[in-house]
Amino acid sequence: MTYQNILLETSNRITTLTINRPDKRNALNQATRDEMAAALDSLEKSAESRVLVITGAGDKAFIAGADINEFEGRTALTQRDAMKGLRVFTAIEEFPKPVIAMINGFCLGGGLEVALACDIRIASDTARLGQPEINLGIIPGGGGTQRLTRLVGEGKAMEIILTGDAIDAPHAKEIGLVNQVVAAGELRTTVLGLAARIAEKSPIALRMAKEAVKSAARMSLREGLEREMDLFSLTFGSEDKAEGVRAFLEKRKPDFKGR
Ligand code: COA
Repeated sequence: MTYQNILLETSNRITTLTINRPDKRNALNQATRDEMAAALDSLEKSAESRVLVITGAGDKAFIAGADINEFEGRTALTQRDAMKGLRVFTAIEEFPKPVIAMINGFCLGGGLEVALACDIRIASDTARLGQPEINLGIIPGGGGTQRLTRLVGEGKAMEIILTGDAIDAPHAKEIGLVNQVVAAGELRTTVLGLAARIAEKSPIALRMAKEAVKSAARMSLREGLEREMDLFSLTFGSEDKAEGVRAFLEKRKPDFKGR
């Protein structure tokens, strides 16, 4: 499939998905969201791709939100219809491989919601993050009210969502919204280094680990602990588990095949 709005590049088991509308600060129109969903679909089964990095083209923006042009003229009903079907945010969250947001600039609205759906967020020191929907007379609709609240707590989420003010990257790190802040020039190397370390692990164990961690927010503690035990036990059915244990005992590096 050829894409008009995104770039996909896989090397050393790491796929980088770049939203490629820099002149529009990588704003997410419907066509871009559809292409992202199609790309996720095709990458899910690709054995060459073990970790996904999502970023924006250029040095100004990660993603400056939903494309506001598409909001004009929409009614409550047509907007509800536009939101049906595959939600790219949930598709990222449920993607069975680790996803890292490489936040290289403005990360606003739907852009922050994409980052929130990712598993790990690394930001450049020039990034600004926020949910400015309130300034348009609307509210976050891509999971912002739910995922931001789970990540940083109700008080901080309320402040960000009710004011619509963007915060800088160090502040985002302070409240746990991003994992790490690095100089803009070091962002790519840092993220690819992190992705490479993760890509060496067993893809099966990564998938189980992601699902287990996600269960924490979806289930009661009792259910989550049950789910963890099931997923833990499932990893014992993999060749990768046999290889990992053998490699440790033989004092060598494991070579995980994803089987
Ligand atoms: N939707 C549609 N177009 C957008 C956009 C968005 N969310 N964000 C930026 N753009 C477009 C601008 O309209 C402009 O297009 P033009 O050159 O055809 O006029 C272009 O991208 C560059 O934007 P500009 O505002 O000139 O860049 P900037 O570097 O001065 O400011 C932002 C960048 C991100 C601070 C500013 O563009 C902005 O506030 N965008 C909207 C953010 C927002 O409210 N997102 C939530 C949507 S629900």
